[in-house]
Amino acid sequence: MLRVAAAAAVLAFAAAPALAADGAQLFNMQCKMCHGGSPMGPSLVGIAGTKIGEGTFAFSPALKNKGGTWTDANLDAFLKSPSTFAPGTKMMISVPNDENRAALVSYIKTLK
Ligand code: HEC
Repeated sequence: MLRVAAAAAVLAFAAAPALAADGAQLFNMQCKMCHGGSPMGPSLVGIAGTKIGEGTFAFSPALKNKGGTWTDANLDAFLKSPSTFAPGTKMMISVPNDENRAALVSYIKTLK
């Protein structure tokens, strides 16, 4: 029992950084072309916990008027289906895979 708990603890400890690292790779492949300093998308640096659709980017009314903050759950819901979360959003890319989404949300939270 104890050994199982210890192994689980080690796994849980290892999971967080690995997730963000996977997220970095996914981000570089799928998101960076618009969110890495390009005028095609807003910067995602520091957005975790801030108001949705706030910043210097010309956000769509869909995001501007959405209300709420970028919690993990909202980031997850937006990435799962941007047009369901905010009908009329200008972001067309979705991330249907649960694990990839979790990795991306972890990574976004490291952007400071
Ligand atoms: C083709 C360009 C493009 C790509 C690729 C793209 N996005 Fe976006 N993203 C946008 C645009 C444009 C917006 C603003 C949408 C709006 O105003 O409705 C946005 C908004 C966002 C926001 C909300 C930002 C805020 O400050 O409120 C998040 C989070 C986000 N994108 C994450 C991602 C992730 C993660 C990926 C990769 C899986 C990705 N995006 C890929 C164009 C893109």
